[in-house]
Amino acid sequence: MAASYLADNQQRFLDELLDWLRIPSVSADPKFQGDVRRAADFLKARLEEAGVNNVALCETAGNPIVYGDYLTDPALPTVLVYGHYDVQPADPYELWQSPPFEPVIKDGKIYARGACDDKGQAYMHVKAFEMMMRDGQGGVPCNIKFMIEGEEEIGSNNLALFVQANKEKLQADVILLSDTGIIANDVPSIEVGLRGLSYHEVEVTGPNRDLHSGLYGGAVQNPINALCAMIASLHDENGHITIPAFYANVEELTPAARAELAKAPFNEAEFEASIGLPVAYGEAGYSTPERTSIRPTLDVNGIWGGYTGEGAKTVIASKAFAKISMRLVPNQTSDEITALFQEHFTRIAPAGVTVQVRPHHGGEPVVTPTDSAAYRAAAAAMETTFGKAPVPTRGGGSIPIVAMFKSELGIDSVLLGFGLDSDAIHSPNEHFGVFNFLKGIETIPHFYRNYAAAETR
Ligand code: BES
Ligand code: MN
Ligand code: MN
Repeated sequence: MAASYLADNQQRFLDELLDWLRIPSVSADPKFQGDVRRAADFLKARLEEAGVNNVALCETAGNPIVYGDYLTDPALPTVLVYGHYDVQPADPYELWQSPPFEPVIKDGKIYARGACDDKGQAYMHVKAFEMMMRDGQGGVPCNIKFMIEGEEEIGSNNLALFVQANKEKLQADVILLSDTGIIANDVPSIEVGLRGLSYHEVEVTGPNRDLHSGLYGGAVQNPINALCAMIASLHDENGHITIPAFYANVEELTPAARAELAKAPFNEAEFEASIGLPVAYGEAGYSTPERTSIRPTLDVNGIWGGYTGEGAKTVIASKAFAKISMRLVPNQTSDEITALFQEHFTRIAPAGVTVQVRPHHGGEPVVTPTDSAAYRAAAAAMETTFGKAPVPTRGGGSIPIVAMFKSELGIDSVLLGFGLDSDAIHSPNEHFGVFNFLKGIETIPHFYRNYAAAETR
């Protein structure tokens, strides 16, 4: 019985996940390189134990990709499971109530960096596979390929090359991933879109050295003042982005499509309260859920320069810096927006400073189909385990490889995520509900069974 297999083994499933979470697989910081590899080795061993075949670390110029498969019958559909075992840096450490790599379960939640994004969610797939192998409920009804990477949080550049070089090996009927969320534990949903990304570091240079702000103040363009003014000018009073042609290709949804998306329950007051704000803010003419899903945005992620130490230092800095990102929607492309940003931000520099724009990684937006056998299989699986049909939603986050799966392999994805917006991914005290972890393990086998029933040749 599936329910009893899960109940009988849930403590071990959690213990194993906690062991994995103890390995600080931070991809952004080279000092964790050895740990990243240990996390890959750990996953390889768990996949092998579960009965996955051909498990291997595929080497790249960066972190290894963990691949394995279970291919039993060409008449069955093939599902490629994607996930990532790398995590975001845990800083600032002092804001964690328990250390990020010493996972604890408290009030029904697993607290650790990567608990939700994405080790906890990727591990649901490993345990769902084990369960199908062992619970006597008919076995594994699809061909499955696992591909879990170690560089999602830094842009998936090496995975992109791996995908291009291994198109045959990666052929599948659908991609299944759990790296997104649901609306609430009693409001299941499936994300059917992700935003793209264009990310830049900008450097504004003024005088050739830091200057005394009394001797020189008033006579020179202050690079920090200039950078702030430039940034401030990127939005108008309606929250629109002022970069010329920024919206040129933005897909405008029909009123009917907007009404459809607006059916997803959303409570503005709860949203505001959950992040300690008196009022939400954003582009005029759009609701809060629209602002975080179907509309493109521009945000400063960090800004620095000058004196930030103790006390006061009267100085005009030589340089100022910022990291600026834009979330993109269909049919914007990261190349197009990167070029527009670079051109515009350089052009608006006031006299007395020079500007350099250095693009980082980007990614393309994607919309996934709802009229496919795979989507229906996922929706029916959630309906079975939540007792309620899921609502399709458009997500605000980015998983750049998903658009590439479509463009390079021609394969659509199903974003069968189980996280919550309140899980604090990328933040201190990231967590993942034990309920969500177990619900994922319970739901995934239903997806395979539903999909196989619809798609077996
Ligand atoms: N899993 C997230 C993306 C996500 C989270 C999508 C929640 C939808 C709901 C992913 O790991 C992530 O953090 N992506 C980055 C982009 C990447 C290029 C660093 C992001 O969205 O900032
Ligand atoms: Mn993720
Ligand atoms: Mn992430």
